[in-house]
Amino acid sequence: MVSRTVLVGGGTGFVGSRLNKLLKANNFNVINVSRMPAANNVSWTAIESSGLPSATSAVVNLAGQQFMDFTKAWTSGFKQNVYNSRVYTTRALATAINKSQQQPKVFVLVTGVGAYEPSETTKYDESSPTTGQDFFSQLLVDWEKAASVNPPVRLVIIRSGVVIGREGGMIKNMFLPFYLGLGGPIASGKQFLPWIHVEDLIRLIQFSIECQEVKGILNGVAPHIITNAEFTKAFAKALSRPAIFPVPEFILNFLLNEERAMLLTKGQHVTPKRTLEYGFKFKYPKIEDACAECAHLFPKN
Ligand SMILES: NC(=O)c1ccc[n+]([C@@H]2O[C@H](COP(=O)([O-])OP(=O)(O)OC[C@H]3O[C@@H](n4cnc5c(N)ncnc54)[C@H](OP(=O)(O)O)[C@@H]3O)[C@@H](O)[C@H]2O)c1
Repeated sequence: MVSRTVLVGGGTGFVGSRLNKLLKANNFNVINVSRMPAANNVSWTAIESSGLPSATSAVVNLAGQQFMDFTKAWTSGFKQNVYNSRVYTTRALATAINKSQQQPKVFVLVTGVGAYEPSETTKYDESSPTTGQDFFSQLLVDWEKAASVNPPVRLVIIRSGVVIGREGGMIKNMFLPFYLGLGGPIASGKQFLPWIHVEDLIRLIQFSIECQEVKGILNGVAPHIITNAEFTKAFAKALSRPAIFPVPEFILNFLLNEERAMLLTKGQHVTPKRTLEYGFKFKYPKIEDACAECAHLFPKN
């Protein structure tokens, strides 16, 4: 029988737990690589010392220290953690794949659209150059480089936009203020906000695992290109709340540090050109539908 074992680095997180459910529902066996012991988990040390679990058919990496953990100051130690948790885990998985006797078919890495320099005018697709000029774009360059696997293993790198889902990421952080009617646009609101619904991101990961022809960079962003102000309007409408309290840029720069605040105050116009060319169909192509799906007070299990 063909093996359907998928190893998922960081599979315990926001995206990973949804991916676990989807893959299991589609008869995959899922093993997570985690810092925490649990029945379905293996440790990073075990991957480094013993390699991949036997008969691993696909490897996915979703591991990474959250940037927007507001309880953590933007210190050089925290930045190192943000960097190492992505670059080192990706390198550990790529090394294990390259050393394995029975190689998996595919390595899927989820990175971000921070690869593209923020701009209000430039339009990016997967063929656009990445610059590595600021902390995040340099991290992206090193992160993607760490994923180097030898053919015939297919490498798919999904550059994800902000992931929209009730249980994690941006929506979880801003749900309460918006629910209380205290939401509003960030900075000028004119900055682009590349986004993808979590359901589409996990479907795109499964698509990348299953479609033998898919390889290279895929922009994991919905085709509906919006600004922060348009997102604010859609989310407030989905919650039937006003959103009239703008968040000034200088406050975010002060609270988060300018280097980190730029993830909120700046943006990129990113299209999923190759993703669509491969025939991937988005379940949530429009921001209004994605926001409506998240507009419930209590997260679903
Ligand atoms: N959410 C978004 O909007 C978004 C947008 C673009 C890209 N991405 C990328 O997509 C990936 C998954 O995102 P997510 O929102 O699901 O992430 P998440 O829930 O914040 O974290 C994913 C997992 O990473 C592991 N992790 C956290 N800190 C770590 C550390 N210091 N060292 C090693 N592992 C660590 C944790 O697994 P254990 O505790 O089990 O070890 C955690 O469950 C991340 O790499 C993220 O950068 C996310």
